[in-house]
Amino acid sequence: MTHHEVEKYRKPIRILHWIHSGAFVLLFLTGLILFIPGLGFLAEDSWTRVIHRIGAAIFIVIPIIYLIINPRSVARGLKLAFTWTKDDIGWLKAAPRYYFLGDEKDMPPQGEMNTGQKMWWFIVVVFGVLFVITGVVMVFAKTTASPAVLQWMVFIHDVSFIVSGAMLFVHIYLGVVHPLMTDAWSAITGGKVSTEYAKKHHAKWYAEVSKGKE
Ligand code: HEM
Repeated sequence: MTHHEVEKYRKPIRILHWIHSGAFVLLFLTGLILFIPGLGFLAEDSWTRVIHRIGAAIFIVIPIIYLIINPRSVARGLKLAFTWTKDDIGWLKAAPRYYFLGDEKDMPPQGEMNTGQKMWWFIVVVFGVLFVITGVVMVFAKTTASPAVLQWMVFIHDVSFIVSGAMLFVHIYLGVVHPLMTDAWSAITGGKVSTEYAKKHHAKWYAEVSKGKE
């Protein structure tokens, strides 16, 4: 790492991101086939169900392994994501002008995670848990749970699919396409962002990590 760069994501969390998101994309696509009636013919021999269950197993097991190996990283991430201050409220107000018009004058300084990233964490954690609980009930209590309970499981699973699927497009758009997020892709692939990017997008975090170095 040169002195023009700052480490944003360490290797284990990048590996977690890509295996976990790979599983999610697999679940999303095979789920779409099960969800849209017109595509039902693709599910006829049930191979989509098999892939959906393999994807689900990876989606569940990988974060558990990460949690066992690196509990402090998980605790740290949750703490960052669920700690909100007045700067987050300021971000919510200023964000539309920033993301749509490139006007950054009202954007409050951000920590290691900006407010948008905190919201994505929230969605990933809450809907991840809902997906897993409802999915496990549907697989393991198919014959023992009452039809009303199973109906609820399907409904919650479907709502989670619609909300988190829509937000995934926002996540990919901001991370890969948006012209102002220049170093997001290199952060999640190689781990680093430039010091200029860190200063501009995560001023409070940059002040912490650069303390005593400049
Ligand atoms: C498959 C397409 C995906 C792409 C191209 C992608 C891309 C990225 C990028 C570029 C970042 C770094 C953002 C930054 O720090 O500036 C990131 C972070 C992150 N991604 Fe993804 N991602 C994808 C899927 C997912 C999925 C499916 C999940 C959840 C299951 C996920 C969860 C996260 C989380 C929690 C972060 C850290 C917080 C944030 O920066 O939003 N990603 N991703």
